[in-house]
Amino acid sequence: MVPTTFPRHLWPLSTHLFQRRLWLGRYDLFELGQRLGTPVYVYDLPTLDHMISAYRHGLQFWPGQGLITFASKAWLSLPLVQLLTWRGLGLDVVSEGELEIARLGGMDGEKIHLHGNNKSLALLTKAIAVGVGAIVVDNLQELALLERLSLTKPQRLWLRLNPDLMAATHAYRQTGHYGSKFGLTWEEAQEAVQRIVANEHLMLTGLHTHIGSQLFEFEPILKAFERLIDLAAWIQRRFGLSIRYISPGGGLGVAYHPQDPKRELFPLVRDLCVFAARSWRQRLGESFPILVLEPGRSLIARAGMALYSVGNIRYLSNGERIIAVDGGLSDNSRPALYGAKYTTVLARDPLGEPVGPARIVGPLCESGDFLIKSVMLPEVQPGDVLAIPVSGAYQLSMASNYNGMLRPSVFLHTRATLIPMQRREQFEDLWRRDVLLPEKPMV
Ligand code: LLP
Repeated sequence: MVPTTFPRHLWPLSTHLFQRRLWLGRYDLFELGQRLGTPVYVYDLPTLDHMISAYRHGLQFWPGQGLITFASKAWLSLPLVQLLTWRGLGLDVVSEGELEIARLGGMDGEKIHLHGNNKSLALLTKAIAVGVGAIVVDNLQELALLERLSLTKPQRLWLRLNPDLMAATHAYRQTGHYGSKFGLTWEEAQEAVQRIVANEHLMLTGLHTHIGSQLFEFEPILKAFERLIDLAAWIQRRFGLSIRYISPGGGLGVAYHPQDPKRELFPLVRDLCVFAARSWRQRLGESFPILVLEPGRSLIARAGMALYSVGNIRYLSNGERIIAVDGGLSDNSRPALYGAKYTTVLARDPLGEPVGPARIVGPLCESGDFLIKSVMLPEVQPGDVLAIPVSGAYQLSMASNYNGMLRPSVFLHTRATLIPMQRREQFEDLWRRDVLLPEKPMV
């Protein structure tokens, strides 16, 4: 069986096949893996820019202004913040660490939105000092904390509504259902509005919801948006207050595997905007708030690819091969955590005739350390390079040093060159935080 088609929609836009090999722009990925050392992640800037344009064009179908804020949990680094800042995007952060990186990378405080279900006093204080565009209130205790702070100027707040909707995705990624740790119930949101309106230091500027991630169904996102509209209508009726920002969060799904639904981003965003605008218009007329979309995965997943080198190959009597590579659970925990399914190709022969199924595993000490449970591959040799597409989101940001693994280096591919974005961890990074005991402790 010779695969005649290459699932191009999974790969960065600069990827192409030439002389039977897989290339990224002018880089032969087999040679690149060998030269850069593996595991290595490469982000393709043309793909990232393409996704940003898809969001921009889609947002034009919302009659008001639009804003894209990148959900930094998908992947965050100083050079990425630089890129996003230069392109005019905003950033969502959930911790002091993410906030620090956002600021150091040059993101304007105004364009940073602070999320999170358990914001500490230190985090809130830092966010206020930075002048974040919005603190997204997740629960009433957090609001109480904000009410007690002595603020010198009014702090802009959004409310995160829990719309009581179950999104069709892995349970760990559902966030909008009853019993979820995220967001205010309808009654709590009403109470929060009343308390904010009554407080001269707090200002209600936005309504937000996010029902989950890796979603392929449109309906629940729109339903959640309609709950926000209901709330906006109630606020207007009750307090004569118009909401300036409205956000249905992120969550659009991407294909990781040839069998996953194949979706073009632009029509998806366009349809979301068209339907959302229709709902808004029906309830609240023509004065549209700023629509804030918060993509993580759909903006960056496809731009990233991971390269691994093959080590040992174990042949089983049932014809299966277990191919061990030099990364795994430590740089991509998604297969273990969510049963995520990826695909891969042999960089030096991506269309080579498969000789049978292979399991791709890492070098770590547990059987949950696998990248792909089964993929058809040609004959593979130690030293070969395997490329895994759609590796740009929630892999590096969730990477660990389990078993003393060093987190991979990251490069940016522009049309002409490769630019380092993050160096590979060094052994010293593994013990940088350790404090040697001065002497043998007494027991
Ligand atoms: N906004 C909020 C408030 C979020 O919590 C998230 C993701 C997003 C936006 C972006 O969602 P996206 O567009 O990336 O779907 N580790 C999991 C995904 C967790 C998503 C967490 N929140 C995974 O690897 O599948």
